[in-house]
Amino acid sequence: MIADKIDPADMRKPASFTSPETYLKTDTRPVPQHMFEESTWDLGNEVMPKEGYISGEYHQLEVKHLWKKVWQVACRENDIPEVGDRIAYDVVGQSVMVIRTAPDTVRAFHNTCQHRGTRLLEKCDNVKHISCPFHNWSWNLDGSVHNIPARWDFPGASDADLALREVRCERWNAFVFINFDKDAQPLENYLGPDILRHWRSWPRAHSRKTYHFGMIVPCNWKLALHGFNEIYHTVGVHPQGLPFTADCSAKYDFYGLHTRFILSLGVPSPFIGETTEPQDSLDAFLSQYSPPEAFPNGFPQVSTFPQARAVLADLLRGSLRQMTGVDLTQKSDAEMLDAIGYMFFPNVIHWGGYALPVIHRFRPNGNDHRSCLWEIMALAPYPEGAKMERDAPLVMLEANERFASRPEPELRFIGEVLDQDVHALRLIQQGLESDGFSGPRLGNYQERNVRHFERQVAKLVGEG
Ligand code: FES
Ligand SMILES: [Fe+2]
Repeated sequence: MIADKIDPADMRKPASFTSPETYLKTDTRPVPQHMFEESTWDLGNEVMPKEGYISGEYHQLEVKHLWKKVWQVACRENDIPEVGDRIAYDVVGQSVMVIRTAPDTVRAFHNTCQHRGTRLLEKCDNVKHISCPFHNWSWNLDGSVHNIPARWDFPGASDADLALREVRCERWNAFVFINFDKDAQPLENYLGPDILRHWRSWPRAHSRKTYHFGMIVPCNWKLALHGFNEIYHTVGVHPQGLPFTADCSAKYDFYGLHTRFILSLGVPSPFIGETTEPQDSLDAFLSQYSPPEAFPNGFPQVSTFPQARAVLADLLRGSLRQMTGVDLTQKSDAEMLDAIGYMFFPNVIHWGGYALPVIHRFRPNGNDHRSCLWEIMALAPYPEGAKMERDAPLVMLEANERFASRPEPELRFIGEVLDQDVHALRLIQQGLESDGFSGPRLGNYQERNVRHFERQVAKLVGEG
């Protein structure tokens, strides 16, 4: 039993587990120094309150103190690459129109007509002027008035009164962030020096979103987020990953509001570590994530875990080069292979490195705190100088649709894993509402990112 091995005095993890740092030290290339850094501490063991997931009043507090105060990712720059391109970002009953007003200028406005409040943009399009479908008021791309039919009929209003209402908008790594709070600190301060420094290792400015799927999931948005911010659930939800996923050994770090995890892959879970050979890890990984036709003569042979990681990383370098034309020869095995998940507070988890640069984004489903919109996107790097196609648009899945049944080739190897996650998320809200459950009992080590996140939310809404 794994629990018998855990020394309660060791708040990090049992010393017998191989740490991610150990694998980083055996890398065949230099690993970014920040991946060795530790920024974590004991957050205690108390049972957490559950009100944040079931209370409409708590949701209203979140709307006021969180969603209307934080920087949040509205889109990628390459969602709106041409002047006049615009896209709507909807959250908690608010809608923002993000628009490219000049080749290198992106602005954001409340997506609402200043005449009688009609929503201006439904999803996304390209326009010369912004116009309202109701009485045809129109604005220039910079939000100033362009034309108002029968302007004489509104004598009490200046053009400034009738201009679109701007929303704070700043960019980082080709993510377009918005903030409803005019007095918010600049985005770079919000992200903080550590996040900015770490991400210099993995520039995303010249990356294209290759897929973007969304689904309404019947649980609170924070519960869905937590499902992607801890590795503990591998043993219950993704047991097929245990031979090549060092789940309990993952590293968790805090950076202000934000968090990070680093999960070593190509090495076994401590749950089955003693009975798993390096070849077993490699075989299980490749069986799950590569087409059988790719290895007509069988999988490469390895005899140590660092060797297994090096071989897998090299295969990924090769396939990424084939897919994107980008040379990743200098990138470490860890950056090619491991799951390096940064949570940009409050609602985005973006994987660093190059293994699978996915982005998860979570928001309440409108103002329903018992369901949420979960999106998953992936970025592919582009060679310098190559012109990128526009980002892939959002494709919404039906409530009961399975990722594994979709025709998109991108889902071929991860569809089943995502379906496993959704299955768990479909159950959690129902069970959590029970009178027989008083609140989440989080793992001291493996769920500390979740506890850290909840502490930040509680502080913001004034409950903690
Ligand atoms: S509501 Fe927009 S022009 Fe009348
Ligand atoms: Fe999962």
